[in-house]
Amino acid sequence: MLAALGLGYLLGSVPFGLILTRLTGAGDLRAIGSGNIGATNVLRTGRKGLAAATLLLDLGKGFAAAWLGRLFAPDFVALAGGAAVIGHCFPLWLRFRGGKGVATLMGVSLGFAVAIGGVYAAVWLGMLALTRLSSLSGMTAAVAAPIAAWLLGYPAYAPVLAALAVLVLWLHRANIGRLIAGTEPKVGSKT
Ligand code: G3P
Repeated sequence: MLAALGLGYLLGSVPFGLILTRLTGAGDLRAIGSGNIGATNVLRTGRKGLAAATLLLDLGKGFAAAWLGRLFAPDFVALAGGAAVIGHCFPLWLRFRGGKGVATLMGVSLGFAVAIGGVYAAVWLGMLALTRLSSLSGMTAAVAAPIAAWLLGYPAYAPVLAALAVLVLWLHRANIGRLIAGTEPKVGSKT
C-alpha cells in the first residue's frame, strides 16, 4: 500500500507546466494569470503547444499512476490514483503549492476505467465548447466522475473519485468566486 501511495504521489508531483515554461523561457507561471501551474495558465503565456504538452503530460502522469498501480499493486489502484492527484495539488518540491488537479484527475479516471475517463473527457470537452470556462468545465467533469463510476459498474472507484471531486472544488474556490462575480476569464483570454 505504501509503495502505491508513494509512487502515485511522486508521479503526480512532477510539475510539468512549471518545468516546460521554465525550460522554454515562456515566463514565470506564478506571476501570470491565475498563478496556477496547469495547462489553462500555460495557455495564458500565449504558447498553445506548451499548454497542450502540459495538458497531456499532467494527464499522462495520472494515467501512469493508476496503470502502474494496477500492474504492481492491484488492490491499491484507487489509492495510487488518488495519491497522484494529491501529488499534483500538493507537491513537496513546490512547498505543497501545486495545481488544481483537473488534467491529472482525467488521467487517473482513464487509468481506473476507460468508461469513467471517457465520461470525464466528454463532460470536460462539452462544457469547454459550450462555455469556454476551463474552471467550470474541470469542476463539472470532476463531479461527473464518481457518478459515472457508480452508474457504469465501477463502484469501488466512486469513493476516491468523490473525495477528489471535493478537493478539486475546494482548490477552485477563487475561480468559483470569479464565476459568481462574472469575472472568470474565458479560455483564450490573457487575463
Ligand atoms: O485546471 C485548472 C483550471 O480548472 C483553472 O485554471 O488558471 O483558470 O485557475 P485557472
